[in-house]
Amino acid sequence: MSDPIRVVGVVASLRQGSYNRLLMRAAQEELPPDMRLEQAVIADIPFYDGDVEAAGLPAPVERFKAQIRAADALLIATPEYNYAIPGLLKNALDWASRPSGQSALTGKAMAVIGASTGVLGTARAQMQLRQLALGLDVQIANRPEVLLGQAASKFDEQGRLIDENARKLLRALLLTLRTLALRLRG
Ligand SMILES: Cc1cc2nc3c(=O)[nH]c(=O)nc-3n(C[C@H](O)[C@H](O)[C@H](O)COP(=O)(O)O)c2cc1C
Repeated sequence: MSDPIRVVGVVASLRQGSYNRLLMRAAQEELPPDMRLEQAVIADIPFYDGDVEAAGLPAPVERFKAQIRAADALLIATPEYNYAIPGLLKNALDWASRPSGQSALTGKAMAVIGASTGVLGTARAQMQLRQLALGLDVQIANRPEVLLGQAASKFDEQGRLIDENARKLLRALLLTLRTLALRLRG
């Protein structure tokens, strides 16, 4: 049997009760048996600064990059802030792509999921992240899209995702990510 497929989970919200954190938890519950999902911590990554980079990567950046390098794929759960991804996420991805020519992201597989209180369920933020994937040279698992709108009504009091269709879509997207990651392994 081949090695398990290692996935780094990134939740792009710092909020304790984040719906995106709960959506990531549901992804963990729906993970195929041969996939492993390990959460990254990006809260302590400082703002990107070329002078800091020149002096040596900060420890939280080194940790994030090492985690990505050791994995086959990323799973990003992102909120939508003013029709875009949070700066927190953009900043972490910018650092992971540095220094030039030493990106940890090149050739990795990536899947995007998102929860918002609006009806479009992060559709615009996800479009932006897919565009960003071009610059980062990551391979996106395109289908199905997991867009959890009106998120406040989609979890029970314990924070469990109760939208069965969303769970079905999560399972299908994780299988797409699995296939893509295996293909990229060659
Ligand atoms: C600065 C800011 C901008 C937001 N802009 C949008 C938006 O463009 N579209 C949307 O659907 N929700 C928007 N929201 C509402 C978020 O969907 C909601 O706060 C959600 O709970 C954030 O995700 P989280 O629960 O994982 O923290 C915005 C929230 C904040 C704080």
